[in-house]
Amino acid sequence: MKGYIAITGKNIDHYLDQYAVIAFELRNSRIKAKRLAIMEAYIALSSIGGIFIRNGPLGDVKGLFTFFVPVEHLDKLKHLLARIGYCDRFYLLDFHSDQSENHTELVTINELIWKGRRFSLHKYYEQDASLYEKQSPHKRKFKILDENDEVKVVHGYRGDGSETGRRALPAEDARCMVNLSNPYRAAKLLDPFSGGGGIVYQAKYIKSSLNVYSVDIDPVVSPGLKFYGSEHRVGDASQIQFPGKKFDAIVTEVPFSPNSTEAILEAMDNLNPFLKDDGNIVMMSGADQAEKIDHHLHSIGMHGYVYHPIDRKGTDVVIMAWTKSDEKIKRMQGFLDVVERVY
Ligand SMILES: C[S@@+](CC[C@H](N)C(=O)[O-])C[C@H]1O[C@@H](n2cnc3c(N)ncnc32)[C@H](O)[C@@H]1O
Repeated sequence: MKGYIAITGKNIDHYLDQYAVIAFELRNSRIKAKRLAIMEAYIALSSIGGIFIRNGPLGDVKGLFTFFVPVEHLDKLKHLLARIGYCDRFYLLDFHSDQSENHTELVTINELIWKGRRFSLHKYYEQDASLYEKQSPHKRKFKILDENDEVKVVHGYRGDGSETGRRALPAEDARCMVNLSNPYRAAKLLDPFSGGGGIVYQAKYIKSSLNVYSVDIDPVVSPGLKFYGSEHRVGDASQIQFPGKKFDAIVTEVPFSPNSTEAILEAMDNLNPFLKDDGNIVMMSGADQAEKIDHHLHSIGMHGYVYHPIDRKGTDVVIMAWTKSDEKIKRMQGFLDVVERVY
């Protein structure tokens, strides 16, 4: 299954018989990252046979895109939608009612007709804003080692604010990055620059059975990462060894300082042998580091499937993803070409 489709008057009835049409609305904070949101949804929904609709309905509504979801897997959909990072509201297009009514706050200038078929528009699911708030770095409970090496409970831990120190990754980016790594097909995930634990926390939220491993050079964050359910080690990502272990994915937000770039490349070289042959790497770096990192990862045999700049409240960063597998990238290529043309 290629995971995307262009709908015509000829194939539409076949799909409407077997699939529900779900519209995804981008979160306001990531309204400019539609391509990345589609990538995230595509990978998360691949676990239940979701299909991206290239020429879906409601094309005039900003920040919206649509997927087919097999009717027989709808029972699993809300669980996945609660864990999506870049979209927070989801709508059902009902093609089986006689009416053609909009029961949502979405504003469309067009009639609710797609390829000659009428539909009604309903709110399907909205993420719990209070849960999102509770998971956000400024509210989340964490544990650190204080100056006397005692464990201290803190809320809203944001690190020391230095260029190389810990930063709190927004929950939407952490979720999106974990989803891009394909967690529903994974058993072991590693964050080698884990800091205040944004990725570890969301990885456990997205899939509680995932074995999450983490590394940070700073011992201060160690109790918090264990508290989030990670098998944590204090160490240098460019030196640490995991004898006998193979990870499905490495997901990480690296230190943004250009002075750290060499150490990041060394860390990737060091960890590559512990990544499965079909494993994925998902990384957020500073914009000024990204090209060098991307170039290096290609030079060690990785194939890129995401390279997306994000404006993180005035900090220019890039989210990137690579896979080790030739076969996987070939399978994905058609979809990547389609997403490239989304505007
Ligand atoms: C951008 S922060 C990660 C923030 C984290 N994603 C969060 O949500 O809080 C980068 C982390 O890398 C750690 N670090 C820097 N150099 C390292 C190295 N060589 N090995 C392991 N960790 C390192 C820093 O201590 C810092 O906590």
